[in-house]
Order: sequence, then structure tokens, then C-alpha cells
Amino acid sequence: MHKSSMMKMEDFKKSYLNSNDELKILDIGSFDKTGNYNYKMILNGKKWTYHGMDLKEGNNVDIVVKDPYDWNEIEKNTYDVVVTGQALEHMEFFWLTMEEINRVLKPGGLCCIIVPSKGPIHKNPYDCYRFNEDGVRSLAKFVKFEILESGTTTDKISDPWYDSFVIAQKPETETKTDLENRMDDIENKMDLILEKLR
Ligand SMILES: C[S@@+](CC[C@H](N)C(=O)[O-])C[C@H]1O[C@@H](n2cnc3c(N)ncnc32)[C@H](O)[C@@H]1O
Repeated sequence: MHKSSMMKMEDFKKSYLNSNDELKILDIGSFDKTGNYNYKMILNGKKWTYHGMDLKEGNNVDIVVKDPYDWNEIEKNTYDVVVTGQALEHMEFFWLTMEEINRVLKPGGLCCIIVPSKGPIHKNPYDCYRFNEDGVRSLAKFVKFEILESGTTTDKISDPWYDSFVIAQKPETETKTDLENRMDDIENKMDLILEKLR
């Protein structure tokens, strides 16, 4: 993990997390190849529980999910905080990941996404995307989270990745996503059809 991403996660911790709160924290795509830098080293409050999640077993991974876009291993409304860094660009269908983040985050929970806006191709096993600030804001909007802060780093230390980041909050009251609303519509239509057939 690059230093500028660690610094951004430090900023998130200082500005948004309270060391006196009991927090359950999930890090998506947490595998740490070198063992030198990972978010667990930052998200280490005494009352905090950190779970690293990835598709493969290894250093800094506590939960391995079988299906990248359907995390059966994790109950809904489990985590107070979900973070992810340098992972979303590798996810072919990142909008499905956002649906899962929405599902596993508690109402009122916080999400911090860090992802490169530039930089060389680095497959893992895919390298699909780079995100500008508007792109990371769209991730939050898609699941109807409130955007608290966003940006793209421009300082020299961020070279070559120039990460974009968004910090967002899941609403306290559950709002349905567009996909869930569409599923409800389909279910209602099916009910009407079945009613007519009876
Ligand atoms: C470039 S690595 C970043 C690892 C770590 N966050 C870091 O910054 O050093 C991307 C990680 O995302 C994981 N990953 C890719 N797609 C994923 C998905 N759909 N769900 C969870 N993890 C995923 C990969 O297995 C890989 O370990």
C-alpha cells in the first residue's frame, strides 16, 4: 500500500472516528502482500474490532468471501465503519460491491473509499477503472449515502496514483436502493399477474 493512501486513512480516523466508541470495522480487499502497510495498523483503537476481508486467504485477511458480489459470510447491518483502498479499480462490477457495502453497514454507519484516479495498470486479477472525484461521489449516491467529504489528492507524494476518496454515511432510516425498488415493482406485477390467472 502506498504512503499517501495510509495518510488519507489517518485523516479519516482523526476526523470521523472516536476512540471511546466501540466500533466494528470492515476493510474490503484487505490482503497485504508485503506485510509493511495496511489499514489495520491505523484502525487500531482499543475498543475497535477490525476485520480484513478479501477473496483470498493471506496476511491481514480475516474473512474470505466466496462470491465477490454476494457476501454470504457477513450478516446485514454488522459494521459501524466500512473502508476500502486500492481495491475498487479491480472490481469488474463495482456497483454490486456498493450494494454489499450498503447491506453490511449499520444504519448511520460510515464508509471511506480510497481509489486511484491515475497510475499504471496493475492487474489483480483485473484492472478495470480509475475514478475521478465525481466518480467516487457517484458510488455513494448510487446507494443513497450522504456524502460528507470527497476529493482527489494532487500533492507530489500521491504520484502516480493521485487517489480519489469519498467519506459517506448510510442514512439512519433504511431507504431502498433503485435496484430494490425495481425488484419490488417486479414482485408487485408478478402478484397482479398471478391474481388474474387464479
Ligand atoms: C491492489 S490490492 C489492494 C490491497 C490493499 N487494500 C492494499 O492497498 O495494499 C486489491 C485487493 O482487492 C481484492 N479484491 C478484488 N476484487 C474484490 C472483491 N470483489 N471483493 C473483495 N476484495 C476484492 C484483491 O483480491 C486484492 O487483494
